[in-house]
Amino acid sequence: MSDWKKTDWRAKPRIQMPDYTDAAALASVEAQLAKYPPLVFAGEARTLREALAGVSRGEGFLLQGGDCAESFAEFSADGIRDTFKVLLQMAMVLTFGAKVPVVKVGRMAGQFAKPRSAPTEVVNGVELPSYRGDIINGFDFTADSRVPDPNRMLQAYTQAAASLNLLRAFSKGGYADVHLVHAWTLGFTERDEAEKYRDMANRIQDALDFMRAAGMTGDHNPDLQTVDFYTSHEALLLEYEEALTRVDSTSGKWIAGSGHMIWIGDRTRQPDGAHVEFCRGVMNPIGLKCGPTTTAEDLKVLMAKLNPRNEAGRLTLIARFGAGKVGDHLPRLIKAVEEEGAKVVWSCDPMHGNTIKSATGYKTRPFDNVLREVQEFFAIHNAEGTIPGGVHFEMTGKDVTECTGGVRAVTDEDLSDRYHTACDPRLNASQALELAFLVAEELTSRRVAQQQAAVS
Ligand code: PEP
Ligand code: CO
Repeated sequence: MSDWKKTDWRAKPRIQMPDYTDAAALASVEAQLAKYPPLVFAGEARTLREALAGVSRGEGFLLQGGDCAESFAEFSADGIRDTFKVLLQMAMVLTFGAKVPVVKVGRMAGQFAKPRSAPTEVVNGVELPSYRGDIINGFDFTADSRVPDPNRMLQAYTQAAASLNLLRAFSKGGYADVHLVHAWTLGFTERDEAEKYRDMANRIQDALDFMRAAGMTGDHNPDLQTVDFYTSHEALLLEYEEALTRVDSTSGKWIAGSGHMIWIGDRTRQPDGAHVEFCRGVMNPIGLKCGPTTTAEDLKVLMAKLNPRNEAGRLTLIARFGAGKVGDHLPRLIKAVEEEGAKVVWSCDPMHGNTIKSATGYKTRPFDNVLREVQEFFAIHNAEGTIPGGVHFEMTGKDVTECTGGVRAVTDEDLSDRYHTACDPRLNASQALELAFLVAEELTSRRVAQQQAAVS
C-alpha cells in the first residue's frame, strides 16, 4: 500500500496509550524490536484470511478466546497448555455439533496491553495511574510500578515468542491429534458438561475406529493429527506494533508481525484516530469491536477504511453489547453492513458488555448473561437472514472463580477463592465448555432449519 507508512499513526490523535517519560529508552527499545524477527509470517496471515473468508460465507465458524490480559507473573508452559486444551475441546464440540470447520484463534502470545475506563484508580484514598497491562506498567499498586516502562515491550516480545513456539509445537507435534480427544479433558472439569464431553468423545472415537476399519483414514493424516492455530491481540500499543511491522517479500505488503490477527478495541475505534490509521495499512485479518455507541455512519466509514477492496476474511466485526441490548444495536449495524454490501465476519463477544461489580466487590460477569447474549446474537442473525460467524470470549484453562454461575454455580461469595485475572473476569474451563455446547446447539438448530427450508 504505497500511500501508507507504518509511522503515519503518529500524526493522528492517540488515546489509551502511555506517555513514556524516557524518550531515549523508548527509542532504544523500538530500535531493538525493529531488528528482531517477526513472530508471524505473511503466508500464515493469508491462510487465516482465507479461512475467515469461508466463515463470512457460512462455511466455517470462528472460535477466538484466551486471557483478558496475559501476565508476566502467570506465564508458564502449563498455563498455555491448559488454555490450548480447553480451546481444542471447545473446537471439537463445535466441529462435531455444527459440522463445519472451526477456525481457532487464541487471545494469546501478544495480548498484553489494556485500554482502561479511567486513567487513574483510587485504593484506600490513594490515587495512582491505572494498570495498563504488563507490556506497559506493573499490576502492583505502587507509584513505581505504575510508571510506564518501555523495556516491558522486550519482555512481552520474548514471552510472546516463547508462547508461540509452544503453541506451534502443540498444534503440529502430535498433541492436537484428534485421536487424543479424550486426553484433552482437564482433571477438574467434572459433572454434567464433562459427561457430555465424554459422550461426544466416545462418538468421535467410534467414528474414527469405523473409518480406520473401512480403510478410509491412513495412519498419517495431517488433517486428523494437527490443527491450524492462530494468535491474536488488541493492537493497542502502537510503538510495539510499528516496531514489529515488516514488508512481506512475496507480496510487497505490510504485515504486523506481532500476531496473526489484530483487533481494534471499542475505545480506540475513532475513524480518524491513530489505531484505525495503523490497522488500515497492514494485511493481517483485522477485528473491530462494535459496542452500543458504534453508529451506523462510523461503521460504514470504518469498513471503507479498513477494507477498501471489500475482501472477504479481512474484517471481523466483534459485537459486544451486553445481554438484553443486542436487539437495540445489532439490527441497525447489520443494516449498515448490508447497505454497503460489505463482506464481514460477524462474531459475538458476550463478555465485555456484561461486566458488573458483585455484592462482594469483585468485577464479575454472570454466566447466564454471557449465554443470553450469545442466544440473542444467534436469534437476530437468524431473523435477519445473516450469518453468525463466531464467538470471542475471555477464558482460561485454570480452575478460577471469576465469572458467577455455570453448572458448578460459582456464587458471589466464591469469587474470592480463586480470582486470578490481571484484568477482566474470565470463564473457567467448565464454563467455557458449557458455552461451547450452547453455541453448538445454536449452530445445529440453524443447520436443521436450513436443511428443512431447502427441502420444503
Ligand atoms: C478486550 O477485549 O479485552 C476489551 C477491552 O474489549 P472492548 O474493547 O470490547 O471493551
Ligand atoms: Co477484557
